[in-house]
Amino acid sequence: QANEKESMYLVSEFARDYFHKTMLNTDEGQAIGLSYFKERGFSKGTIEKFQLGYSPDSWDAFTKEALGKAYKLEYLEKTGLTIVKQEDGKTFDRFKGRVMFPIQSMSGRVLGFGGRILTNDKKAAKYLNSPESEIYHKSKVLYGIFQAKQSIAKLDNCYLVEGYTDVIQFNQSGIENVVASSGTALTPDQIRLVNRLTNNITVLFDGDAAGLRASIRGIDLILEAGMNVKVCSFPDGEDPDSFAKNNSYEVLKQYLDENSKDFIQFKADLLVKEANNDPIKKAELIRDMVVSISKISDFIKREIYIKECSRIMDITEDVIRSTLAQIEKKDV
Ligand code: CTP
Ligand code: MN
Ligand code: MN
Ligand code: MN
Ligand code: MN
Repeated sequence: QANEKESMYLVSEFARDYFHKTMLNTDEGQAIGLSYFKERGFSKGTIEKFQLGYSPDSWDAFTKEALGKAYKLEYLEKTGLTIVKQEDGKTFDRFKGRVMFPIQSMSGRVLGFGGRILTNDKKAAKYLNSPESEIYHKSKVLYGIFQAKQSIAKLDNCYLVEGYTDVIQFNQSGIENVVASSGTALTPDQIRLVNRLTNNITVLFDGDAAGLRASIRGIDLILEAGMNVKVCSFPDGEDPDSFAKNNSYEVLKQYLDENSKDFIQFKADLLVKEANNDPIKKAELIRDMVVSISKISDFIKREIYIKECSRIMDITEDVIRSTLAQIEKKDV
């Protein structure tokens, strides 16, 4: 079992090196992969730091190379790097013709990959990811944690973003305490990973409806873990990647500092925007804030948030407290 996992790590690390070298040292890799990343604004140093790569546009170039180096088909298949057709046993490279983002553990082992398509073909999935395996559990990993861990601990805060390129563009801008949930709904395991390094998370979400929904779901889970959570939204149609790419470090830093709101203020501002004086909507949103407060187990923090909520929403603390009691009765 331990040997099997080690074999899977080793073949994944071989793949990481193969994709990376293919991008840097072949004509196809340079013309397609490298120029794609250059266009996105990634420097040589950034490409090295994240070990970015390119998987050639060939049915089985990678698989052949790996087999030739005596890596076993069994592990190529188990990691999902190679697809073996049931009918005839023919083998195919899963990530054919994509730019590659290796996904690393906290300690730097390669667990899997995200591969981005280069065309704007709306029929094909933009990102293809490694399948779940013995070494890759997508609900337990955070992209960028290996590169971010020291900075998170030092600055005692972690920015949480949606995508691979958000993490990389922030690093390129000089902000290293950033990880991505990679488009999946945030999980308790992912939060625990961050909580080993800091008690503070700032959720940065894409300026679209999906991003907003995802961050609202994340808030309560982070509070339940006993952590502090702030939220920072980006302008409509922008994500952390595009914002960081189009602005200087100073502008980005100032934007983050000025727009990171404590979760209660974030929800209150949402209320003003969405409820628009509709009393029913307003009641729903206040209840939603109280549900968030009910996730806080620390008595002192909870007391502070009850007072905050009462002040911001202009309702009595008594009402908040009895609503809290109601919610907690339903929970058991
Ligand atoms: N994602 C995925 N599969 C998809 C789309 C998205 O796994 N078909 C994941 C990726 O990890 C992606 C993240 O969800 O990074 C966020 O999605 P999105 O915001 O759509 O992509 P971006 O990261 O902004 O990618 P890009 O800038 O390259 O378009
Ligand atoms: Mn290199
Ligand atoms: Mn998005
Ligand atoms: Mn995005
Ligand atoms: Mn993007």
